[in-house]
Amino acid sequence: DKGGHRHFMAKEIAEQPARLTDLLGAYMGKDGVELPAPGIDFAAIERLTMVACGTAFYACLTAKYWFEQIAGLPVEVDVASEFRYREPPIGAGTAALFVSQSGETADTLAALRYCRGKADRILSVVNVAESSIARESDLALPIHAGPEIGVASTKAFSCQLTVLLLLALDAARARGRLDDAAFAARLDELRTLPGLMNQALGIDDAAHAISARLAEARDILFLGRGRMYPLAHEGALKLKEISYIHAEAYASGELKHGPIALIDKSVPVIVMAPRDELFDKSVSNMQEVMARGGKVVLITDAAGADEAGDGVWQVLRLPACPPALAPILYAVPAQLLAYHTALAKGTDVDQPRNLAKSVTVE
Ligand code: F6R
Repeated sequence: DKGGHRHFMAKEIAEQPARLTDLLGAYMGKDGVELPAPGIDFAAIERLTMVACGTAFYACLTAKYWFEQIAGLPVEVDVASEFRYREPPIGAGTAALFVSQSGETADTLAALRYCRGKADRILSVVNVAESSIARESDLALPIHAGPEIGVASTKAFSCQLTVLLLLALDAARARGRLDDAAFAARLDELRTLPGLMNQALGIDDAAHAISARLAEARDILFLGRGRMYPLAHEGALKLKEISYIHAEAYASGELKHGPIALIDKSVPVIVMAPRDELFDKSVSNMQEVMARGGKVVLITDAAGADEAGDGVWQVLRLPACPPALAPILYAVPAQLLAYHTALAKGTDVDQPRNLAKSVTVE
């Protein structure tokens, strides 16, 4: 049932505020984050190793910024197919965390089995509660996204991110990085997320309006800095999966180390840059692109648009938000740009060629 939408993907994008409301209701108690038993003592671990594939991997990369900056917990992130064959040493003091929508991805499951007996704790963040990855974990954390039918992951990504942010906040409190008042303030911020996501869905028309131009491009670049960098990868992945346009993501600061050679007036460059502590740096990278004729789509908030919107090809405005929430909020325009560009190209949005929803072979 597509709930009145043209595609499952559109339905799943649109239902994110409701699923995030469910998720927050399930995890937020009166005065803290409530995890399913047996929980995890973040004060007792020294490092976190996170492993996943595809979109779930980009959720892990984003979470690294949260765990390190907010909780002071060192994090390593790897794609499961590399991790499992590298024989990485996993010492005492390590918790291993696996993120998977289906809970059946062969490489992720194999990586989990590799960590069994080596890591102190095996955690997972899953959508399918009765999946293999959930069953084989010491602690499985559900993302409450509901069934995801569209092959390109959308609501599972925002729900994975939100569970991971809740975990990072829990870790920060356990490790003495957030006192009770600061922790409570962070939870209050999170409570605004469903409303913010709802507002972000309002850029649907703007995304549609530029999609015909994006659909003409042969290559599209995505740029982000700091906690927005992994989302640039997710935006590029979404676009290639369903529109078959070649898309790449770079950390904004890496541009001048090579990729800037790709820029000319035929290359749209999507810049994800809320008005945060790194905004000025992102803007100067964006201006380097504009100076070479690149067609910039700046996704930012009102303050960012006022400050840096002049001369930019297209500005998409999102509501201002607490910095930690931006990677979740900005997932919406990444999804909508991919969706509308694919529609403009006439591809099969829900069943893209060559892809399967659950990858149970390596
Ligand atoms: C992208 C996508 C894939 C999956 C990946 C992992 O839209 O859907 O990249 O994210 O195959 O799948 P799960 O999360 O089921 O382990």
